[in-house]
Amino acid sequence: MIIGIPKEIMHDEARVAATPETVGKFVEDGFEVLVECHAGDGALFHDEDYVSNGATMVSDPQEIYDRAEMILKVKEPLFNEQQQKHEVDMMHSGQVLITFIHPASPVNHEMVRRLTAKGVTAITLDGIPRISRAQNMDALTSMSTCAGYKGILMAANHLTTFVPSMFTAVGQIKPAKVMVIGVGVAGLQALATAKRLGAITYAADIRPMAVENASSLGAKTVDTTVPAELAVAEGGYANRLPADVLIREQEALCETIQQMDIVFCSALIPGKVAPIIITEEMVKGMKKGSVIVDISIDQGGNCELTPKGGIETKYGVTLMGVKNIPGLLPTSSTWMFSNNLYNLVKYLVKDGSVVLDRSDEIVQKSLVCIDGQLVHQGAREAMGL
Ligand code: NAI
Repeated sequence: MIIGIPKEIMHDEARVAATPETVGKFVEDGFEVLVECHAGDGALFHDEDYVSNGATMVSDPQEIYDRAEMILKVKEPLFNEQQQKHEVDMMHSGQVLITFIHPASPVNHEMVRRLTAKGVTAITLDGIPRISRAQNMDALTSMSTCAGYKGILMAANHLTTFVPSMFTAVGQIKPAKVMVIGVGVAGLQALATAKRLGAITYAADIRPMAVENASSLGAKTVDTTVPAELAVAEGGYANRLPADVLIREQEALCETIQQMDIVFCSALIPGKVAPIIITEEMVKGMKKGSVIVDISIDQGGNCELTPKGGIETKYGVTLMGVKNIPGLLPTSSTWMFSNNLYNLVKYLVKDGSVVLDRSDEIVQKSLVCIDGQLVHQGAREAMGL
């Protein structure tokens, strides 16, 4: 089977879907791997290393799309300015595509319809369920880990103060206070990173299990007042809260938020718009010079004022709505991502061809379209089908 690794075309995207190491593993397993020239440059994986691990470098992306039976990518298909073609139009019927597609998101509906009409078999990485046997294929978890770490470093960089306590000849400097709201994968990594930097850490989450995890990392936990029976949905995920309960949560967290130097927002209910936890009024009362890093911005953000992409200052508070934080850590995020992909491909390919067992939860949740049919439940619901 031939696997194609095109260079990512999204502006400023430095990640790539395979490293020389994973190419080597694919080749050892009997795959042929085509990699677009300079595809790994941004993540510091170079052409000569791909070649020495058995890749064939190809300069024309269309040739990769023509020859490969399976395309591995980081971002969803986009319009390729250089080729003046949409990546969907570069693909062909029966070709397998594995990438982040976010098929339920309205901005992607048209692209998903076109992928389906093309007869592409598309598998979305955001659909991989968080179950133990899929852990090593879970690229979303890997990227959240990157966002938790890098997000805290970005926030720390914007502070005008030290993060740790410092004992200096002229006196002691107090440590910064960091609060994490939504202690899932990204939030836990953010807490651990803030702790390593020497901050005093606080955490809030509506799931008792998440609060327990935060506490075991040494964070002081703040009560959201949300009863567990309202907070936890089937499968252990968080529930969307009724408006009055969310307002009570905002009130319960307000005082702590206003004492913080950094507030890291990563509260999310999978597949839903992110809950607003910090209102404009709350931001007005925050410390001047404090920083909110709102990584839920792709789902709308947890703070009412977060810019959709980029950084702004309002009421003396820096609001960071930077998108694609894992792309700012391209070597590590690529290493994790490409290994997740390798494990997923190994799982799906049997005797040289892709075998999709539609009764398997991993396949069921991640398959977007096949044989001209749109099968992804979330996308179908979102499109009103
Ligand atoms: P997760 O599902 O593991 O964690 C979300 C947490 O939020 C859960 O623990 C949940 O209980 C909690 N939560 C939900 N509603 C809440 C509420 N009302 N109050 C307090 N906590 C609440 O999600 P994960 O993987 O940690 O991702 C978090 C966010 O980060 C997502 O929005 C994801 O899309 C985003 N993300 C952003 C990146 C970027 O570059 N901007 C990169 C990676 C992830």
